[in-house]
Amino acid sequence: MSEKELINDEKIKLEDVKPDKTLRILTGDRPTGKMHIGHYFGSLKSRVALQDKFQTFIEVADVQALTDNFNNPDKVKKSVNQIVMDELAVGLDPNKVTFFIQSLIPEIAELTVFYSNLVTIARLERNPTVKTEIAQKKDLFGESVTYGFLGYPVSQAADITCFDATYVPVGEDQLPLIEQCREIVRKFNSIYGDTLREPVAVMSSNMRIKGLDGNVKMGKSLGNALYLSDDLDTIKQKVMSAVTDPSRIRKDDKGNPDICMVYYYHNLFTDKEECKNICEECKAGKRGCVACKKQLIESINKVLEPIRDKRKHYEENPKEVMDILMAGTDKARVIAKETMEKVKKSMKLDY
Ligand code: TRP
Repeated sequence: MSEKELINDEKIKLEDVKPDKTLRILTGDRPTGKMHIGHYFGSLKSRVALQDKFQTFIEVADVQALTDNFNNPDKVKKSVNQIVMDELAVGLDPNKVTFFIQSLIPEIAELTVFYSNLVTIARLERNPTVKTEIAQKKDLFGESVTYGFLGYPVSQAADITCFDATYVPVGEDQLPLIEQCREIVRKFNSIYGDTLREPVAVMSSNMRIKGLDGNVKMGKSLGNALYLSDDLDTIKQKVMSAVTDPSRIRKDDKGNPDICMVYYYHNLFTDKEECKNICEECKAGKRGCVACKKQLIESINKVLEPIRDKRKHYEENPKEVMDILMAGTDKARVIAKETMEKVKKSMKLDY
């Protein structure tokens, strides 16, 4: 496939992107809590790989976080530093990545207003991601969703296009948002003339990590998250309570690793050869669950220890994190201003 064809696609796989330092990628996170290993396998690892291939911009989407946390500004504020520390700890390099804070780029908000004319309420209500989220947030929204939440895809389209991003690395759940962004771009360009770039979603590993409790999703609200910043004792306590094959009562009972969360986690953290071993021993009733859990604790700690250590440096030097964010925001704002100039010119708002 030629590069042109690739770029015309609406989504491509991470393995298929051709490195190009003249192109920009943009992705973001809502600051609503610390990151867990679901984020690590689902997106952070691929961001680390991408930072050497493209100009990487990562937005701390505090304005978007407020769309469903407007009643909890403390949580959002506290989480800004936390998520950037997590990102730095896993190996995202502030010399390669531009980290910036959404609310400090007013051009994004301005662009959101312009885009809001190009989207219908019905189209927003049909967005599958938004639809699912509204259904999950009945407690917050009651019978009628806010204008801000319903419209967050418009604001996210502004996040992306404000920085002229070519690629947007995201998980599957975000695809409807990228699709909606592309529609807005096409509409804008068809009315006001060719101005904006249509971004392409880059599918990251697409791995959804189950909780140690067997829940198909890991999340803070589900109480089953293993955080990147968890210390050894916390890891121990979480792994020891993990769900194993319930029909295994005695150590020499034959086990079924396919329904065991400890085995599932070994596959994430323990090397392949050893996993085969574990699987066979379990099936043959030759390994006890407690020993198996202890081995898993070690494997997890081997991965998380260097992340924790690196994070500790930033926890002790919060100013360093803020400096990274402020320098990144300055750099991002220059690009946002350039985009706004072009946009206003196209819209005949260039007084
Ligand atoms: N909606 C994304 C999420 O919930 C976060 C986000 C905000 C984002 N702005 C973005 C992702 C721009 C990609 C591009 O995870």
